[in-house]
Amino acid sequence: MTKDVIITDRLILRNIGARDAETIATLIDNYKIAVMLARVPYPYKIEDARQFIALTKDPPADERVFALCLKNQAETLIGICSYERRQSVEPELGYWLGEPYWGKGYMSEAVKAVIAQAFTVAGHECLVSGCRLQNLASRRVLEKAGFEHIGRYEIDSLVLKANVPGHRFSLTRERWQELSRCV
Ligand SMILES: CC(C)(COP(=O)(O)OP(=O)(O)OC[C@H]1O[C@@H](n2cnc3c(N)ncnc32)[C@H](O)[C@@H]1OP(=O)(O)O)[C@@H](O)C(=O)NCCC(=O)NCCS
Repeated sequence: MTKDVIITDRLILRNIGARDAETIATLIDNYKIAVMLARVPYPYKIEDARQFIALTKDPPADERVFALCLKNQAETLIGICSYERRQSVEPELGYWLGEPYWGKGYMSEAVKAVIAQAFTVAGHECLVSGCRLQNLASRRVLEKAGFEHIGRYEIDSLVLKANVPGHRFSLTRERWQELSRCV
């Protein structure tokens, strides 16, 4: 596993670039996606994508934002998976996938690889994540990856212009190592 690109069974996880702006804007301009994310506006314009891409340039050494691509179409972004500090002390795992790609196990595959990168390359001790109460697919992705439910919290939703309740999860490096040994 190199620092910049991760290759899994079906995916390539690479850095985001200016060339991804149009695809990001097309995929994420979807209420079903935007309403599940905290800081994404809706409607979502190409300028929003450009702004987001600019923010992901030169991240701190222990934070990453990966473009998810299918192995046979390495140029075409299908979603994003990241770990960044945001407001929390621990880095937060976040992700979304374009709707045409849901239900095929892609995010579970990506999250598994990104978690391994966060613990082994970036050297983190713990990751946190969260999802809205009704986001059962996201909750399942986190639980399958080994995340433990640690309580509820408030998500500041840009789309809804309100705080909405969510489930909070965490995964320590120690638990991840234990679970990895059991596979
Ligand atoms: C959440 C999201 C990333 C999942 O991506 P995905 O590639 O479809 O997820 P996977 O296929 O890897 O896994 C989804 C799991 O949830 C389960 N699932 C999906 N919808 C479900 C539902 N309504 N109720 C219960 N489980 C559900 C699937 O069966 C699967 O579990 P399984 O492998 O045990 O069968 C994708 O739906 C998405 O981008 N949603 C909008 C944005 C979002 O919610 N981002 C996360 C914010 S916290």
